Amino acid sequence: MSAKKENRIRAPRGTSDYLPDRAASIHRLDRLAGEVFSNYGYQRIITPTFEDTALFTRSIGEASDIVRKEMYTFEDRGGRSLTLRPEATAPVVRAFIEHNLGSQSLPVKLYYFSNMFRYERPQAGRFREFWQLGVEALGSPEPSLDAEVITLAADFLRALDIREGLMKIGSMGDENCRPQYTLILQKYLEEKRDSFCPDCGERLKFNPLRVFDCKNSECQKALADAPKMIDYLCDECRDHFDGVGRLLKEVGIEFSIDPMLVRGFDYYTRTTFEIQSSQLGAQNALGGGGRYDRLVSDYGGKPTPAVGFALGIERLLAALKAEENVDLSTPRKIDVFLIVIDNEHRDQAFKLAIELRRIGLSAEVDYMNRSTRSQMKLADKMGAEYALILGPDEMARGEVVMRNLSTGEERPEKLSSVADKLGKIKGFE
Ligand code: HAM
Repeated sequence: MSAKKENRIRAPRGTSDYLPDRAASIHRLDRLAGEVFSNYGYQRIITPTFEDTALFTRSIGEASDIVRKEMYTFEDRGGRSLTLRPEATAPVVRAFIEHNLGSQSLPVKLYYFSNMFRYERPQAGRFREFWQLGVEALGSPEPSLDAEVITLAADFLRALDIREGLMKIGSMGDENCRPQYTLILQKYLEEKRDSFCPDCGERLKFNPLRVFDCKNSECQKALADAPKMIDYLCDECRDHFDGVGRLLKEVGIEFSIDPMLVRGFDYYTRTTFEIQSSQLGAQNALGGGGRYDRLVSDYGGKPTPAVGFALGIERLLAALKAEENVDLSTPRKIDVFLIVIDNEHRDQAFKLAIELRRIGLSAEVDYMNRSTRSQMKLADKMGAEYALILGPDEMARGEVVMRNLSTGEERPEKLSSVADKLGKIKGFE
């Protein structure tokens, strides 16, 4: 590599530029989410890109991989410790408390489409900056709210025509049954300590449930007979879990129960779920979520049970590509291309393009001194519906030629009124 090339600055590792095609796909996902989510009564929320570090250390859990290894934490010039958001549940809960949203009629239903930051080892489907589309519904402990957010996630995938998503559901229990279960699990793990990797040895001390997260095949084998939370739920948690399953069946959502489903955050209580895709390889989770009944009160808010999920946008795009059934990147088409034959008419073409755009039409004009032929080619490439040709003879008469590029039909039009005329044809006036 030449020294010059080596010095070239590139996008930071684990980040990407979203060039126009991909950016357009993301925009379309965002719009579709807006439609589907608002049918379910969710309103958009935008929170800051960075927050006080304590917001995440407290909610996600000191022992979690995210807090221990993956946060982008920095000190600002005022000496505050800030962190780029690795997820949005904690920020939404903070905003909910800070703006007293709990005084509105409950549940408060919010959604976001935002970029997140995690210092992870980049690989297919795993990045350091990535986008999430998520919802948080705050205010009700009812299993029907869990069923609503799970159905919403499934319906959104259906709207995208993603068919390979497998819905896995589990339960983390609550403050009544989880501590007891954790002790039972810890005892089992201690007895089998030699079968686990050194990382799991650590997890066993901090948070034994995290052992289920380990990808090591020996650890997974040793976990096959481990006691599972789902078998130790208290009666209330059991009823809640059964209620969620019953409602999902009522509305035709297919799911399987995964007793090993452990998600990477400490805030979950009761329901957890994940949507996995067979199309994605190792990073197979399209999205996930769960209930977090204690998070609002842990931050000092009035006790407010809540549930939510987030989908990974890059993984959705990868799944769409793999399933090859939806093309989100429909090529851009324009209304009008202005073709200049004589250079002296370039300024008039520029003015006419602006006039057309102000009416609401998409109009393009050449800025590269192209030949007439090249301009025609470009108009075609851009999928222009009309060409307005500024020929010297017509311009001398104060006219331009308006050509319909799909039928080839053309006629002269007055330069002074052609914009209005096109506006009317396109229904803008
Ligand atoms: P999460 O499982 O950490 O949950 O992230 C949700 C989704 O974001 C994942 O399933 C995945 O598709 C995507 N994702 C996560 N990390 C990366 C990465 N490094 N690169 C690309 N995509 C990634 C949460 O964040 C919770 N806040 C979800 C939630 C909302 N729970 C309750 N409410």
